[in-house]
Amino acid sequence: MTDNQPTSQPESNQLKTCHWRPEYRILLGLACSLFISILLGLGVYYHTPSKTASPPAMARQAPPPCLSPACLKAAARLSVVADPFAQPCDYFLVSCRSEGPSVATRGRQRGKGLAQGKRGLEVRASGNKRRGRVLNLGRATDAQTNTDALPDRLADKQTALLLVLREILESPDPRPSSMNSAEQKVRMFYRSCMDTRAIEKLGSQPVLKLIQKLGGWAVYGKWNQTNFNFILSLLMKEYSTFPFFSVYVGKDPNDSDSNGSRKYIQIDQPEFQIPVEWDSKDNKSKVKLQTARQLYSFHLQLLDLLGVPSSGTNQHTGMFLQLFSELTLAASPLPHRLQHRLLYQRMTLGELQAVAPAIDWLGCLQATFHPLPLNQSDLVLLHNLPYIVNMSRTISKWQDSPEISGSGPLHTFMILSLLHQVIPALNSKFTELQRNLSVRLGDTWEAIPHWQKCVLEAEKGFDTVLIPLMKERVGEKEAEELIQDIYSSLKSRLSVLKWRDEKSHSSVLNTVGSLTPRLSTDKEILSQAKIDQQYSEVAVSEDDYFSNYLQSLSLQKKRRNKLFSQTTAPDILSFTPSLSSEGINIPLGMFVPPFFHPSYPRAVNYGILGTLIANEILHLLLPDIQSQTEAPEKVSDCVWTHYLRLTESTRQADPPSLTHAQQQEIWVQHTAIHVALQAYNHSLLKCHDDTSLSSLSHTHLFLASFAQNNCNSDPFNERLPFEPFFLVTVICMNSDLCPKPMTCSHKSHQGFLEKC
Ligand SMILES: *[C@@H]1O[C@H](CO)[C@@H](O)[C@H](O)[C@H]1NC(C)=O
Ligand SMILES: *[C@@H]1O[C@H](CO)[C@@H](O)[C@H](O)[C@H]1NC(C)=O
Ligand SMILES: *[C@@H]1O[C@H](CO)[C@@H](O)[C@H](O)[C@H]1NC(C)=O
Ligand SMILES: *[C@@H]1O[C@H](CO)[C@@H](O)[C@H](O)[C@H]1NC(C)=O
Ligand SMILES: *[C@@H]1O[C@H](CO)[C@@H](O)[C@H](O)[C@H]1NC(C)=O
Ligand SMILES: *[C@@H]1O[C@H](CO)[C@@H](O)[C@H](O)[C@H]1NC(C)=O
Ligand SMILES: *[C@@H]1O[C@H](CO)[C@@H](O)[C@H](O)[C@H]1NC(C)=O
Ligand SMILES: *[C@@H]1O[C@H](CO)[C@@H](O)[C@H](O)[C@H]1NC(C)=O
Repeated sequence: MTDNQPTSQPESNQLKTCHWRPEYRILLGLACSLFISILLGLGVYYHTPSKTASPPAMARQAPPPCLSPACLKAAARLSVVADPFAQPCDYFLVSCRSEGPSVATRGRQRGKGLAQGKRGLEVRASGNKRRGRVLNLGRATDAQTNTDALPDRLADKQTALLLVLREILESPDPRPSSMNSAEQKVRMFYRSCMDTRAIEKLGSQPVLKLIQKLGGWAVYGKWNQTNFNFILSLLMKEYSTFPFFSVYVGKDPNDSDSNGSRKYIQIDQPEFQIPVEWDSKDNKSKVKLQTARQLYSFHLQLLDLLGVPSSGTNQHTGMFLQLFSELTLAASPLPHRLQHRLLYQRMTLGELQAVAPAIDWLGCLQATFHPLPLNQSDLVLLHNLPYIVNMSRTISKWQDSPEISGSGPLHTFMILSLLHQVIPALNSKFTELQRNLSVRLGDTWEAIPHWQKCVLEAEKGFDTVLIPLMKERVGEKEAEELIQDIYSSLKSRLSVLKWRDEKSHSSVLNTVGSLTPRLSTDKEILSQAKIDQQYSEVAVSEDDYFSNYLQSLSLQKKRRNKLFSQTTAPDILSFTPSLSSEGINIPLGMFVPPFFHPSYPRAVNYGILGTLIANEILHLLLPDIQSQTEAPEKVSDCVWTHYLRLTESTRQADPPSLTHAQQQEIWVQHTAIHVALQAYNHSLLKCHDDTSLSSLSHTHLFLASFAQNNCNSDPFNERLPFEPFFLVTVICMNSDLCPKPMTCSHKSHQGFLEKC
């Protein structure tokens, strides 16, 4: 497993002459600026007369090695991989493909479904969310994955991020004396989740208590005939459980008026626990008999695990199944709803109440979004009105049927939904049962380690507490510097592109010029005192994970309400830059090892994260680049010609020519490396010291670090017709930046190739 050394920051300053303690900063600033002017002078001197002369910074020999704990780990990883420059021409052909496991993981996104639970509320209506849900419900096991055991490959982004959060959660409390701080609570929450022995011991007791608290259950003992809408609103409010429909918060893409940031409550069909088939002949959904049987036996086993006497369970489970299939009838998949214009239908709550009267919409939504004011004239957006109408009718029908309403099938439906919601907090038997169902239904069950599950749960309820702790770990200054360097290098690269016409030219440069990228830290990062106060009523106990888990479900209410107020909800688990009215937000979560560390040599930070950021920003800002410039076509043709030439001998048939998307992707990634290299160059000019790793330094280290990252399965990389490292080969062929000249074990005619 990972070591317990904090990767945090005391050591981060020790090796960097340009990042000293404040008292030295002024002096250093003077010295640095003097030095920079000299360097610049030298640079000009070196640059202008001779293009072949080695640049001053690059030529310096043997910079001091970086010895911080984070660097030692990075060096260990570097030393395991084959030196990409030993045979740079051949490296790209074997780098990823030769390693079994990574071949297997390419093509699917690891870490998918990770934040799905949380995003459920903010994303727009999307089609097949069911798979995510089933996986999400309890796919953790105690199995340890081998991410840490693979030193030669970088952990995927999400795992890296979770590891940092884990370190935070496992580190000792810095303020042990201040009882009841929010920080202590989140750590205690995490510990109680990790304490599987205590969880196993409690068994199903906590759930049964919870059911009693809600007024009992006809399936198990007595039921107080609680009011339908009362229980429904309680589940929505306190337990983030939405049995009959789902609720999100988000914009209307059709809102083209000046005020495009308005957020709406959005109502959709629920995420069903099992696959619902779509019959395109009569345009109806249905549940396969086989699937229904699985669900039936799953619930029988679930009730058995709960200790419910088996006498009535057949009957209750049968009714549940019948209600379930009636509800699914009017559900429909996204393409159908798109075609029939069912998405984003606007109505007021009053209108919704009139067409779907079984639900007390105002009451339920007021409970869900308490204390937000809501009234009958507020607008909501619907994503499947026919389903909602049908659902309301179905509920009325079941309520009005005297012979069955006594046994409370609607209540049973809600309690079972709640059970699904709390299964992750129960012992391993429940999780196993759910896993078995998933497997039988043909879902791929990706086991995630227990600690990851606990980190994710802690994040759901306590993100406000974790954001500032995360911020402390990230070297904010180094991060900001990297962002600014990358962006200005990107701007200058774009400014020399040939545009198709003046309009494209000015529109791109205006967009790029008007935006400022910045580290997205919650603007309203609260003070410790404020956070403590916000969590003052949350009682976390060391040995009762179940009740902690219920607290965290209840805390998600706050998170939902936050979605209304913020233009950019800072998402601690995000790894993707986004646009907002304030500019480009670069998420904090990108700045974690092994992609970035304030103590790393800058060559590593620029080589890995610098390229990544440039890549993401290009995708974000220039989705339509091909209509604006010929560069993508030209660059990709050139790179592709290199590739075809070098792989000629290993190929049987001619590969198909590049698609538009591939051309664009090649250009983006090619540009991203150059942007990052240039930014690194620039940074060396500003402050010419950099440390080294594994006796690699500067450009060499930059490219080696980049190469290390390129086997990750990244959705962007999937679009490339070759491994991203091939772009380094192109750089090596086109420049003298690589340490060794290009020599290929097979034929190549590099001399004949043009530069890209
Ligand atoms: C259910 O009914 C019993 C007996 O009438 C009562 O003691 C109990 O408090 C009720 N529980 C709830 C949650 O209403
Ligand atoms: C969205 O706007 C377009 C044109 O502005 C309109 O044709 C379409 O019907 C609108 N869709 C909805 C769901 O309002
Ligand atoms: C834009 O929307 C926000 C929130 O919905 C509102 O407070 C503000 O007054 C609106 N501004 C305009 C110009 O309509
Ligand atoms: C089902 O939908 C398709 C496409 O929307 C349509 O062509 C077809 O006629 C519909 N079938 C029935 C039975 O409504
Ligand atoms: C409902 O709330 C809106 C603001 O959200 C307000 O403008 C309107 O007057 C309210 N209507 C009633 C009937 O209270
Ligand atoms: C719900 O919709 C389905 C399919 O359109 C229909 O067969 C069923 O009768 C509807 N149920 C009710 C209660 O309206
Ligand atoms: C899950 O499935 C496995 C293998 O089919 C079985 O051994 C195990 O008992 C099942 N677990 C539960 C809780 O049903
Ligand atoms: C970095 O700078 C050196 C000279 O200072 C130059 O030769 C090299 O091409 C630059 N690299 C990039 C990617 O701009």
